[in-house]
Amino acid sequence: MKFIIDTDPGTDDAVAILIALAHFSDEEILALTTVAGNVNVDVGTRNALRILEHSGRNNIPVYKGEAVPLNRDLLTAEWVHGTDGLNGVGFPDPSKSEEATGAVDYITQLLQKSEEKITICILGPMTNIGKVLDSNPELAKNIEQIIFMGGGAGFGNHTPVAEFNILVDPEAAKIVLNSGVKLVMMGLDVTHQAISTKERLSKILDTGTLTGEHCVALMGSLADLDIVKEKFPDGTPVHDAFVTAYLVDSSLTSGELTNVEVEVDSELTLGQTVVDTNQISGRSKNVYWMNKVDDEKLFNIITKTASLLP
Ligand code: BDR
Ligand code: CA
Repeated sequence: MKFIIDTDPGTDDAVAILIALAHFSDEEILALTTVAGNVNVDVGTRNALRILEHSGRNNIPVYKGEAVPLNRDLLTAEWVHGTDGLNGVGFPDPSKSEEATGAVDYITQLLQKSEEKITICILGPMTNIGKVLDSNPELAKNIEQIIFMGGGAGFGNHTPVAEFNILVDPEAAKIVLNSGVKLVMMGLDVTHQAISTKERLSKILDTGTLTGEHCVALMGSLADLDIVKEKFPDGTPVHDAFVTAYLVDSSLTSGELTNVEVEVDSELTLGQTVVDTNQISGRSKNVYWMNKVDDEKLFNIITKTASLLP
């Protein structure tokens, strides 16, 4: 398998990237591509480089992506992830820079030239991939699958019905959902079922590594927010970790193939993913919508990650 990680790091993005770095080689992880979302794309790109530096994996290239959504002003989430995007966690300064090519050009060329199909992990707004597929819809056939964190059936985390990644760039999400690529959706339906309890965090710390300490501090960025404490008194979700943990072990989640569309017009429900949970729309089944989780597996994978990295 060869894959790229498209990301807006982001505390849970960082955990997801660390999972990938611990379990896959430089030959398998082709690149990190960044996008504006949790923080602006310059901060996010630097964070991607900092995470690679910490992990001793500077061979993996970083490509800076889109600074704004396709048709909208950027919405960021520093109130969740901190102004540095990584909750003040002490990842080192990067000793190298991003590549000169932009993420959209890189992904386009990769899909044009690769002899094997590429898997794409999306951990942020879908702006980069939406732009690639909008200009080159034929490249869909060169994508093995897209596994994305985003959306939810019937509820949101940024508005009553919209999840953050989809809300930031609903038009890009629409392009991806209609692209014909095999899509695996890790939405709030699964991420809210796996909580970073004290016991799980202490197992991660027991690994004795700096990565373990960093993972616990990254997961703490949500835990301190009053609004989150009310809903998740015992710990918090680690949204993006699902995407790369699923690459490690696809029995992490299960679900069903159904239709998912995104609302791009309504003021009230903008960014809502409309999931055909009862299979009644008659529309094409375009998404493997995940809804069941083996939550212990997720935290075992994070603990293993901490034990394998510095
Ligand atoms: C998603 O939004 C971001 O804040 C997180 O990094 C995650 O990708 C959760 O809704
Ligand atoms: Ca993210």
